[in-house]
Amino acid sequence: MKKLCLLIMAFILSLPSALANEGMWFLMHIERLNYRDMQKMGLQLTPDEIYSINNQSLKDAIVQFNGGCTASIISDSGLVLTNHHCGYNAIAELSTAEQNHLKNGFWADSLADEMKPESLYVRFFVRMDDVSKRILSLVNDTMSEKEREAIINKEIAKIEAENNEGGKYTVSVRSFYQGNEYYYFVYEDYNDVRLVGTPPENVGKYGGDTDNWEWPRHTGDFSLFRVYANKNGEPAEYSKNNVPLQSKYHLPVNIDGVHEDDFAMILGYPGRTNRWMPASGVEQNINYSYPAWVEGSKLGMDVMKKYMDQSEDVNLMYASKYAGVANYWKNRQGMIDALTAHKTVKTKRKTEKKFNKWANKKQNKAKYGDVISNINAYYDLTNEKSKQSNYLVSLLRTSKFSTLPFSLGQSLEYYATQNEAKKAEVLPKLEASIDASYKDFYLPLEKEMLAKQLGLYASKSNYPIPSIVSEIGKKNNNDFTSYVNDSFDKSIFTSKEQVEAFIKNPDVEALHKDPLYILSSQLLTKYREMPDNLVKPENDYQASYRLLVQGLRESGLSKIQYPDANSTLRLTYGKVRALPKDARNDANINNYTTLEGMINKYVPNDSEFDLDQRMLDMYETKDYGRYANEYGQLPVNFLTDNDITGGNSGSPVINGKGELIGLAFDGNIEAMAGDVIFDKDLQRTINVDIRYVLWLIDKYSNAKHIVDELTIINDK
Ligand code: ARG
Repeated sequence: MKKLCLLIMAFILSLPSALANEGMWFLMHIERLNYRDMQKMGLQLTPDEIYSINNQSLKDAIVQFNGGCTASIISDSGLVLTNHHCGYNAIAELSTAEQNHLKNGFWADSLADEMKPESLYVRFFVRMDDVSKRILSLVNDTMSEKEREAIINKEIAKIEAENNEGGKYTVSVRSFYQGNEYYYFVYEDYNDVRLVGTPPENVGKYGGDTDNWEWPRHTGDFSLFRVYANKNGEPAEYSKNNVPLQSKYHLPVNIDGVHEDDFAMILGYPGRTNRWMPASGVEQNINYSYPAWVEGSKLGMDVMKKYMDQSEDVNLMYASKYAGVANYWKNRQGMIDALTAHKTVKTKRKTEKKFNKWANKKQNKAKYGDVISNINAYYDLTNEKSKQSNYLVSLLRTSKFSTLPFSLGQSLEYYATQNEAKKAEVLPKLEASIDASYKDFYLPLEKEMLAKQLGLYASKSNYPIPSIVSEIGKKNNNDFTSYVNDSFDKSIFTSKEQVEAFIKNPDVEALHKDPLYILSSQLLTKYREMPDNLVKPENDYQASYRLLVQGLRESGLSKIQYPDANSTLRLTYGKVRALPKDARNDANINNYTTLEGMINKYVPNDSEFDLDQRMLDMYETKDYGRYANEYGQLPVNFLTDNDITGGNSGSPVINGKGELIGLAFDGNIEAMAGDVIFDKDLQRTINVDIRYVLWLIDKYSNAKHIVDELTIINDK
C-alpha cells in the first residue's frame, strides 16, 4: 500500500505543472495577465488587495532592503523581516570581538536596545506607471544610440521631477525589454532602520558555502529590523526621538504549515536576469567572462580567509565581503556547468536562426535584417576584452587599494584646488568620507590581495592591460610583491593620518606622483575605457539587441511575456513543489527539511556545520509546541517553484490568503541556468519555513515579546 502511494506520488510529481511558474510580473499587470491563472491555483485575494494605489494592499508590506535585498513588514510597529545574509553586513558592523552578535546572536529586550547601524535604509513602493509612449514618441530608428539616450534621459528627468512631490519621493524611470518599454516607479525611503534580532551565525548561515545554493538545506536565514520615523510617521534621519513606524499594512503570519501544491507567491526585487540574452552573449559568458570571474573570486577568497582565520577582529571586518564574493563565485561556476549541461547556447541559436529567417523577409528586412549579424560580430570582437575585464573586476571588488586612492584622490585634488571659502564648505563631507574609508581593513591582507590580484590579472589577460601593470609584470615575472610593498611604503593612501596631513597641506603634484594613486587611476581608467574601434560595434549592438527583443515579440518567436529583472518590484506565483526524492533528505516528501536533518549534518567545531549545546538540547527535548508539523517534526526549509533571483533574498512567501508562510533565501544549483533560461522541471526557490523562524525567536532565543507583536493565524 505504502509502495503504491509512493508510485502514484512519483507519477504525479513527474507530470509537468499545468500552470506557469515562470515569470516575474509587474503588480500593475496582474489583473490583466495573471489573475485568472492565479485564482485557479488557489489565490483568494482580489487584484486590488495585492496592488492598489489608494487603498492599503500587500504592496505596502514589501520593502527593498538596503538597495540589494527584499524584506517585509510584519507588525503594526514597523518590524522588518529579511534574510540573515541581507542583514549580515549590519550585524557584523554592530559586532566586536567582545560583543560578538554575529557569532552569538542578539535580541533586543526593548526598543531602547535596538541597534542602529551606520547606514541602512528600506524603500517602500508607492506606485508605478507606463510611460513607454511618452518616451518612445521622441526617438526614431535613424538616431545613434547616444542621441537616443540623451533625449530619453532628458524626458526621464522631467518625469522624475513631475512625480517626486517636491523631493518627498524617489522616482525612478527604468527601461524594460531592452529599451522597448519604459515605466516609472515612485518610492519612499526610510533611513533610520535598527537591528532588533538575529540568530547566531551558525544558525543563520548554517551550512555556509558548502550548502549555499544547495538543497536539501537547513538554514535559519533570517534577521529582524525595525523602521523608525518621526512623530508624524515621515522618514527622518536617525534621532533618539524617532519612533517605530506605524505600518500602513503588515503581513499576517500563518503557522498552519505548507503542503505540496499549495499556492505560493513571492513579492520582491529580483536584481538581474538575462532571459533575452542572445546565444553569443551566453557563449561569451561561459567561455570568457565567468571563468575569469570564478578564478579571480577564488583568489580573493583565499587571501581573505588566510587572515580571517587568524583573528576574530579581522574576521568581523571581512566576513560580509567574503560571503558576497563566495556567493557569486559558486553561482558563476554553477552557471557555467548548468548552461553547458542544458546546451542553452544551442537552444538560443535555434531560435535566432528562425528569427533571422523572419527578419530577412521582405517586409522586415530593412528594420531587422542585420540584427543577428551585428550581435554576433560584437561578441566576436569583445571575447578577450570581456575576459580581461572580468579579471579586472575581481581585482577591483576584492582589493580596497585598487580603487580607494583614485576615488579619494580625486576628491582631495578637488579640495586642494578650491579657494578658502569653498574649502571650508566641502571639508565636512570630505572628512566624513575619509572616516568611512579608513575603517575596518587590515593592511597585511590588503597588501597581499593587491599583489596577488595584479599577478593574476597580468598573467591571464590576452588583451591590453594598463601599462604600469604590464611593465612591472614583465620585469618581475608577474610577481608584484615587492612593487606593492614599495608602493604601500611610499603612498599617503595607506593611513588616515597621512591623508589628513595632506588636507592640512595639500600638494597636488605629489598626489599625482603617489604610486597607489597612479596604479588606481590606470586601473579605473581601464575599467571605464571605450576604445575607438568599439564605438560603432557597441552602438550597433545596442540597437540590434533592442530590435532583437522587439522582433522576437512581434514575430511571436518568443513566448516570454515579462521583462528581465532589473531590481524593480515583481510578483512570481507558483506552488509548494518537491524535487525528485533525494536520499540526503530524510523528510517524508522532498519539499521540506527538518531540525532532525539539521542535527544529522552537525559536525562539532566545524566552521560551517557546528551547533551549540542549546540547539542540541532543544532537539533532544523536542519542545516544538505549536510550530511542529503533523508528524511532530520541526520544519526548517521548504521548496516552491517560484521564479526568483538574487535581490529577491528576504522576500516574503505568501499563501493564497495573503499570509506569510516563509521567506525566500536561495536557489538550487541544478537550476543555476535559471537567470538565462527558466527550467520548468528543476527550478526551485528555497525558503525558510516561518514556523522555524518563530520557533527560533520564541523558544530557542526566548524573545517571545517579538512573537507577541505579530498577527498570527493558526487555523489548525
Ligand atoms: N545564495 C544566496 C543568494 O544569493 C545567498 C546565501 C548566503 N549564504 C552564504 N553561505 N554565502 O541569495
